[in-house]
Amino acid sequence: MLKTKIAVLVSGGGTNLQAIIDAQKSGIIKSGEIALVASNKADAYALKRAEANGIKAVLMTDEAALLKILREEGIELIVLAGFLKILSKEFIQAYENRIINIHPSLIPSFCGKGCYGLHVHEKALEYGVKVTGATVHYVNEIPDGGQIIAQKAVEIQDGDTPEILQKRVMEQAEWILLPRAVEEISRKLAKGKIE
Ligand code: GAR
Repeated sequence: MLKTKIAVLVSGGGTNLQAIIDAQKSGIIKSGEIALVASNKADAYALKRAEANGIKAVLMTDEAALLKILREEGIELIVLAGFLKILSKEFIQAYENRIINIHPSLIPSFCGKGCYGLHVHEKALEYGVKVTGATVHYVNEIPDGGQIIAQKAVEIQDGDTPEILQKRVMEQAEWILLPRAVEEISRKLAKGKIE
């Protein structure tokens, strides 16, 4: 079966990108392959992770240029892995049902515009919830509002700081959930293709 061509969009450290790369190496992801990593931030460490693994890595601050390279590379699935820029309606429509995102909470809690990265965990601790987690979802025009693909719960412990909680949510939920979802969707998309 032909593999689904994946682009991973990043803005920061890229630990979720690393989880996808590792899953590809270990065979958890076998129906898709990362063909491109694109960052909207020049100093994103994620770009270095891509280069270290022989994956084409580009800096793309402009959506039109990003769309162009995605098309040139024949990308079929876009994974937002810590990509902290909101995509336009036009961009989302161009890849309808082919963009997924990982968010570090149990949506619909602690999500939406301005709620990203460490802020999400700050808000969960401020509210005092006892359980949080991560969500993989399709991307539509509503920030964090697309159909949910997978979720995993993580317990909050006494004395948690946003940083400690972020690490636990990554280790126990994000790095497991995202590669699995990438494989599941890649498999579905690959099945629809002809050898
Ligand atoms: C991750 O926790 C991801 O879930 C979050 O940013 C972090 C990126 O880390 N994304 C969002 O908050 C999106 N709304 P990484 O660069 O190490 O993967």
